[in-house]
Amino acid sequence: NSTLAGLDASKVKVTKSQALKPLVANKDLLFGHTFTDHMITADWNEQEGWLAPEIRPYGNLSLAPSAVVFHYASECFEGMKAYKDKKGNTRLFRPDMNMARMNRSTARIALPQFEGDELIKLIKEYAKLDDRWIPNDRGYSLYLRPTMIGTQEALGVNAPSNAKLFVIGCPVGPYYKTGFAAVKLMATTEYVRAWPRGTGDAKIGGNYAPGLLPQRMAAKAGYQQNLWLFGDDHQLTEVGTMNLFILWKNESNELELVTPPLDGSILPGVTRDSILSLARGWNEFKVTERKMTMPQLRDAIKQDRVVEMFGAGTACIVSPIKTIEYLGEDLSIPLDPKDPTSQAGPYTRRFNDEIMDIQYGDKESDWSVVI
Ligand code: COI
Repeated sequence: NSTLAGLDASKVKVTKSQALKPLVANKDLLFGHTFTDHMITADWNEQEGWLAPEIRPYGNLSLAPSAVVFHYASECFEGMKAYKDKKGNTRLFRPDMNMARMNRSTARIALPQFEGDELIKLIKEYAKLDDRWIPNDRGYSLYLRPTMIGTQEALGVNAPSNAKLFVIGCPVGPYYKTGFAAVKLMATTEYVRAWPRGTGDAKIGGNYAPGLLPQRMAAKAGYQQNLWLFGDDHQLTEVGTMNLFILWKNESNELELVTPPLDGSILPGVTRDSILSLARGWNEFKVTERKMTMPQLRDAIKQDRVVEMFGAGTACIVSPIKTIEYLGEDLSIPLDPKDPTSQAGPYTRRFNDEIMDIQYGDKESDWSVVI
């Protein structure tokens, strides 16, 4: 309907908080536990489209208990970060990719589309207003959480007639309490994260809640994350909430970086895409998006053909992997052969450092957008 209003950042109404919160020291930050002074909100309804957005004090939302989000998981979100460079500028990393993905997620769960460029403008204005919350140190950033929910008050199962978009932000350091440290995975054979023609490629809340029980089971057994498998042949898919990368010597003894292909069950990660692009640019080894099974990986580990493995996502950038438990057996993944105390292999570190250099503006790149 062409008469519906689009999201329009120029219409924003800004209400500043009258009671600014005390900042939290970087060393005391726990991922996703500290929120800034303000947030962005915008409401949509099917008669009018997007109403004027607001930047207003961070605070509770008021929703009817019948709101569709509480019943049918009408929710999707993004994760992105704002970084301070050495000159004091604030930068976003490939924000257009988050906007495009969020519109694919909203489409998949029958929530409305929005103008991504306009949300980026609002995020820039919000980041300026909450500038004091953006940490200066490398390794720290302001994590941004754009979210859309269905707010229609109705228990009938239908595409929502009302929705709310909001963005909150939290200063963050390392995702894990242990900092940059290699993790142990449990290859989960009892539960499946996503499947063909399902919703694994959409960043919707409904994909995450079902992972919490398997994650807790893995944690109880001493493993930080699940290695998600699919199918009777135990195809490798994702690790925890991250994409999976394997650097190995393949069947032809070529050095190859492998990640599962975007077949609809894999989340198209911004970090995933960035790693593939960097690796193709280095041109030092083969780079392949293809399926690999856990038995293939187990054989390669036993034949010392696996060089490094890591998860990749916005929260961690890379998360080195040191152990995989599979069918009762702990398989060891090499970290740095030259340094037994190291928590990551040299290629894993290099991906991490090159992406950070771009995010923090130490290396010029179109991926980094100064606000
Ligand atoms: C990521 O950025 O790796 C994530 O998906 C984590 C987020 C769900 C907290």
